Amino acid sequence: MAEAKSLGVVGSGQMGSGIAQLGAMYGLHVWLLDTDPTALYRANKSISSSLQRFVSKGQISQAACTEALGRLEYTSNIDELRSADFIVEAIVESEDVKKKLFIELDKITKSSAILASNTSSISITRLASATSRPCQVIGMHFMNPPPIMKLVEIVRGADTSDETFHATKALAERFHKTIICSQDYSGFIVNRILMPMINEAFFTLYTGVATKEDIDTGMKLGTNHPMGPLELADFIGLDVCLSIMKVLHAGLGDSKYAPCPLLVQYVDAGRVGRKCGVGVYDYRKGSEPIKASPRL
Ligand code: NAI
Repeated sequence: MAEAKSLGVVGSGQMGSGIAQLGAMYGLHVWLLDTDPTALYRANKSISSSLQRFVSKGQISQAACTEALGRLEYTSNIDELRSADFIVEAIVESEDVKKKLFIELDKITKSSAILASNTSSISITRLASATSRPCQVIGMHFMNPPPIMKLVEIVRGADTSDETFHATKALAERFHKTIICSQDYSGFIVNRILMPMINEAFFTLYTGVATKEDIDTGMKLGTNHPMGPLELADFIGLDVCLSIMKVLHAGLGDSKYAPCPLLVQYVDAGRVGRKCGVGVYDYRKGSEPIKASPRL
């Protein structure tokens, strides 16, 4: 496949906005699609301020920032992705919702387009089987935040072609990322290892072993992690963490992957982390500290 010149990104949340920013920074014309106009508005603001931070740090010029912003189009109309060479899906972590989108993308995009998913855990093979082009479907898993984190985990579905793999690798390398390759099994590499650790941190809090601060400090200073697991869960989004645990539990069939009831309760309460201002920690300015978490 010739080098991609245009990129469609579906979902303009934390991940989609960062992926769209990368595309625009590295010279692709980008359409960023979201069904929620407020999400598009937020993405526009966060991309502008992120690019401006790159300028302030001397990592890109003001002219490069202006050019990148000029390459971005925001839309709620999926038909506008019709001419994109490469699509990255970064919508909610739900297999049903993603499958519906892949069916739609398969219908409207040109036949040569590659359809990639930024899913954290959902089977690429099953998403691919919803389309008429399974050899052109692949997992392209960016880390949060995409403009900063160096890794892209590439996941080949059962029918992903070598051509699709090489085009995806080339795109990740154009973004100056290091790639790792995973087989298509629940959680791939990074989340297969990370999420059970985060879930265990929730169990440690839930069973009253320690406070959230001590759990995070323990893992930061004791194992040299830059963020504690609970702080990281808030950063990722507790809803995303819960969805991934459910996929691991269902896909690998071992009770050790059962989501911690405290994680479930936080998500039920709408405490999904930094993106809403409150998760394990409270990020709202001037708010009362959240009362002690329920214990067994
Ligand atoms: P988010 O909740 O910040 O954003 C999701 C966006 O998708 C929302 O703006 C929503 O309006 C939009 N959306 C939902 N359904 C849609 C549809 N049918 N068409 C168009 N837009 C739709 O979620 P986030 O955190 O950006 O995650 C997105 C994907 O990236 C998920 O699959 C997640 O597992 C994966 N991921 C998340 C990471 C994280 O740290 N949050 C890291 C790596 C991957």
